[in-house]
Amino acid sequence: MQITPPSLVDRVPPNYYVERVLSVRHWTDSLFSFQCTRNGAFRFEAGQFTMIGLMSNGKPLVRAYSVVSAPYEEQLEFLSIKVENGPLTSQLQHIKPGDSILIGKRPVGTLVIGNLEPGGTLWLLGTGTGLAPFMSILRTPDVYERFDRIILSHTVRTVGELAYHDELRALHKHELLGEIIGDKLIYHPAVTREPYPVNERITTMISSGRVFRDLGVPELNPSRDRVMLCGSEAMNHDCKTLLEERGFTEGNSGERGTFLLEKAFVTK
Ligand code: A2P
Repeated sequence: MQITPPSLVDRVPPNYYVERVLSVRHWTDSLFSFQCTRNGAFRFEAGQFTMIGLMSNGKPLVRAYSVVSAPYEEQLEFLSIKVENGPLTSQLQHIKPGDSILIGKRPVGTLVIGNLEPGGTLWLLGTGTGLAPFMSILRTPDVYERFDRIILSHTVRTVGELAYHDELRALHKHELLGEIIGDKLIYHPAVTREPYPVNERITTMISSGRVFRDLGVPELNPSRDRVMLCGSEAMNHDCKTLLEERGFTEGNSGERGTFLLEKAFVTK
């Protein structure tokens, strides 16, 4: 596969911005994130995704990626897995500062707080790269104004995959957000395939009640809780079943609900 050099960006279709990579962070040998420049005209809501990628053989090779950065931030940030033979990520994992990247001009997605009934406790249940849209939401002040408490559950296979762990632990001390976050944010990381204090799937911990006991909060109830799900198809399906059994209703961009769901994009 041949990557088109930046000098040929005039072949990029008009529905993409061409941005410049600013920094890259490799969390593990299968997970990385990067920041790039942001066109001033690119507007999105916390929780949305857009198509991103590279020019390959004269055509855009793109996949859906949730934006990690907050809407007010000057740069864009994304989180990606690396798949050895994945058409896009086998190339994307080698990007370095200065490289060109395509950013789709039209962000979309259901995981925006306006699609939820307001108030109460907001549970953000993410596995793997399903954390990405929640990072954008948690870096944005609106969520702390709209909900009394926010609980982030992030489950991964290995400790190294707990991306943004240190930032999340310190978010309540953030110079801009700290005051508004106060004690509203609870971060609950779990690791299922290596030793870790919390080492069960979120579905197991909801069914057994462990997560509620550990955090000292009441059991999930649609009268006071809101939930966003972002994980693999299996995780989304299993969590959705648990929520519907408890009377939660799914919202979308047309109708508010007590839970929302988006699949974590497995980008190959
Ligand atoms: P496990 O290690 O028990 O499979 P994946 O990389 O496969 O998407 O998994 C990311 C995390 O999500 C892992 O900790 C995994 O646990 C967990 N997970 C996978 N499938 C489900 C599911 N159906 N319900 C809840 N958690 C899941």
